[in-house]
Amino acid sequence: MIPNRLFIRNRANLAAQLPPKSIAVFTANEPMPRNGDEFYPFRQQSDFFYLTGINEENAFLLIAPDYPDESLREVLFIEPYDEVKATWQGEMLDVRQASEISGVKTVKGSDAFYSVLNDIAFSSYGDNIFLNSYEYPKYECAVGTIQQRFVKKIKELYPMHQYGRTAPILNALRMIKSDDEITITQQACDITSKAFRRCLKTVKPDMFEYEVQAEIEYIFKQNNATGHAYAPIIAGGKNACCLHYSKNQSQLHDGDLLLFDIGCEYKNYSSDLSRTIPVNGKFTERQKQCYSAVLRVMKEITKLYRPGGCINEINETTHRLMEQEMIQLGLFTEEDVKHQDPNKPLERKYLMHGMSHHIGLDVHDSIDKFKSFEPGMILTCEPGIYIREEGIGIRIENDLLITEGEPINLFEGLPVEIEEIEAAMQR
Ligand code: GLY
Ligand code: MN
Ligand code: MN
Repeated sequence: MIPNRLFIRNRANLAAQLPPKSIAVFTANEPMPRNGDEFYPFRQQSDFFYLTGINEENAFLLIAPDYPDESLREVLFIEPYDEVKATWQGEMLDVRQASEISGVKTVKGSDAFYSVLNDIAFSSYGDNIFLNSYEYPKYECAVGTIQQRFVKKIKELYPMHQYGRTAPILNALRMIKSDDEITITQQACDITSKAFRRCLKTVKPDMFEYEVQAEIEYIFKQNNATGHAYAPIIAGGKNACCLHYSKNQSQLHDGDLLLFDIGCEYKNYSSDLSRTIPVNGKFTERQKQCYSAVLRVMKEITKLYRPGGCINEINETTHRLMEQEMIQLGLFTEEDVKHQDPNKPLERKYLMHGMSHHIGLDVHDSIDKFKSFEPGMILTCEPGIYIREEGIGIRIENDLLITEGEPINLFEGLPVEIEEIEAAMQR
């Protein structure tokens, strides 16, 4: 169990940033229907989890730091006991367990949420209502989320109140990981490392990508990971040049490379690893050249993960260094670069993605891309090269913790050098 001091601290940090006479309210996620009476596996909304540690549907959190009745300054609402539900789906969380997990002292049934909110909102201590929206810039949800419906409903109930957004506050808080979060993320990375190490022993020509995925999932499950933090990419040969390849249906060929982009989710926290290995255990000369180019650049840009650095600097430096590497690899010449269309640099044909993102409760975690690095941030470092015409796709990715000094690689010791990978694959 995650120590509830994490959630107590997270709520206190949020409360400290609310203006006087504020209420912040949050709803849990709901299960997403699949077909018939089936649902997709439940995943808690990350901000709700960050503030409560509760992995249940039909729950609310209310924070009203100035409310005179101390017992209502923090209230967690959980689904009331339902015998039928308990019979079909298993024991439900009770008030004592919910309080223990979250550290919230006052826990009530979710059927009491709107009446408690009414009492506070219509007192002289609830002028500002803070609502949570998921503000990840690329997120789209055509069907609408429970959070969106909740925001709409609250605004209809209290049209005369002042409103504020919790997202900017929570995004900033979530970017800096506490010691407990760092420990859990390290545990997630350790499980992912174990899965990759197993693959180093088991991958061989003619296997199918999904068989490799099965090896990974076995280790994830055996180590109590909740599952994948994102759709795993197990891409042999040219499949690796498709950046979001996740069909994982092809057969692996002798002489090809195999790109893994995998990460388990453990206690709701993500890990994110990429490694590229030769299917038959030995890199060809050309594969070595390309792999070494990416690894050299990775070592160089890893130095930029220090306080004051930023993702833009990492992207720009990587593109500049990879351009030189690509010239050495014969993909184009110095002369070609001089005459290239500045809006379409030649190197972008072979490296088209960003090199870094925050990880945390979400694999692409809450961001403020203008915020420079501070100790406690955990970011990926993931340069690559994708040469479609040669069927070569390479990405190497580590998760780095920013410290006052050098970054800490959460995949430290995991094979990454050509000799280490070849040695680990020898049978
Ligand atoms: N696995 C997703 C990413 O590397 O960003
Ligand atoms: Mn990745
Ligand atoms: Mn990544």
